[in-house]
Amino acid sequence: MATEHTQIGSVLITEEQIRQRAKEIGEQITKDFEGEKVIIIGTLKGSVPWMAELIKHIDLDCVLDFMIASSYGSSTVSSGVVKFSLEPKENLYNQNVIIVEDIIDTGNTLSYILKKFEERGPKCIKICTMLNKESRRVADIHGDYVGFEVEDLFVIGYGLDFDQKFRNLPYVSYLNEEDIEKL
Ligand code: IMP
Ligand code: MG
Repeated sequence: MATEHTQIGSVLITEEQIRQRAKEIGEQITKDFEGEKVIIIGTLKGSVPWMAELIKHIDLDCVLDFMIASSYGSSTVSSGVVKFSLEPKENLYNQNVIIVEDIIDTGNTLSYILKKFEERGPKCIKICTMLNKESRRVADIHGDYVGFEVEDLFVIGYGLDFDQKFRNLPYVSYLNEEDIEKL
């Protein structure tokens, strides 16, 4: 039986919904890359739970890799000044690359990552994100595989943090001002 977690914030997306969507997207990726190899690169730390769910449904020759890219700016909006503190170890030349993200917000972080990866000469680069906050987009970035659209709310859980906390919640919820004051 699943562990009962204390509910933090208001639940937006349940574990069951995330699992179902990961299955659908994993099967779609399997179809789209039939007969080919893929390199799946997760962004640490937020994408870990989503990536773990997703890869169970990718029936392809695949290699996993990770990166840490942080963007500097004010606390709520990323600036597009991005620094890699861990770069993917795999050789991306002529490879099918799938970047796995927890959420695309302004798109500034991914925009920088894409530019850096393009320099490595991959065959293609696709983006698979659990959540998409389209209304906040600044950079010209779109997810090729999108789990769920979310409104302009501060979301936590299933990998997403508030001050490094709540990544372990088995659902996605959002925090309003009142919730944040109580934390
Ligand atoms: P972007 O460069 O603005 O697209 O920022 C993307 C990164 O900011 C994501 O990968 C998350 O790590 C973080 N982020 C954006 N929105 C949220 C949120 O609502 N909750 C938690 N983290 C978020
Ligand atoms: Mg992230």
